[in-house]
Amino acid sequence: MQFDRRIKIAPSILSADFADFGAECRVIEAEGADWVHIDVMDGHFVPNLTFGPAMVKALRPHVKTVMDVHLMIAPVDPMIEAFAEAGADRLTAHLEAGPHIHRTLQAIRAAGCRAGLALNPGTGLDGVENLLDLIDLVCVMTVNPGFGGQKFIASQIDKIRRLRALIADREIHIEIDGGVDPATAPLVAGAGADVLVAGSAVFRGGSVGNPAPYGANIAAIRAAAEQARRAA
Ligand code: DX5
Ligand code: ZN
Repeated sequence: MQFDRRIKIAPSILSADFADFGAECRVIEAEGADWVHIDVMDGHFVPNLTFGPAMVKALRPHVKTVMDVHLMIAPVDPMIEAFAEAGADRLTAHLEAGPHIHRTLQAIRAAGCRAGLALNPGTGLDGVENLLDLIDLVCVMTVNPGFGGQKFIASQIDKIRRLRALIADREIHIEIDGGVDPATAPLVAGAGADVLVAGSAVFRGGSVGNPAPYGANIAAIRAAAEQARRAA
């Protein structure tokens, strides 16, 4: 199958109802989500604490698309096997999470998952070049990781453009995480991103009992991004 560079929307369940994650996953997929983005935070690498492999395992039967697991933890390596066994399709680790990111990415692939590399807003592209043959995705953080609902950091757009050029025709996705909504989606899609993570902009206004706003929110982000893609 050809590499899919179409726009994909990946709702972050960080903005879902924490008491009803299974139903939230089923509902966002029914409303058009392409991937489900799961934010793992350790209260150490980032100043917030969410959930671990047991939650990923519990959600696995509820996610039919792609479980895109964003690891905001340090160290990463001791946890890779557990997340892979829990059923994660993709594991994304931060470049900043330790001195041996190369080994971490090797370990993710060895565990049978697609490997992603996440970059904080303060991190440049210098460290990426030597990792290109080990990754399936680069996640450009457009907020400082830790919380949903933060303001989009526009200085990252130029970084996305340079990353797109660096990737060239390699089969590597560019994912954007943080502050993505119908106003910012065109900026990142026009710069070369294809996977758009969105938490608050997807879940706002809806609920498991009233899922239609989720669908409208996903469609609005997708339409804005696709329009910018066509214009680029
Ligand atoms: C932030 C997380 C994001 C977050 C995005 O650390 O990695 O995935 O949920 O939330 P919004 O879309 O609200 O900025
Ligand atoms: Zn995330």
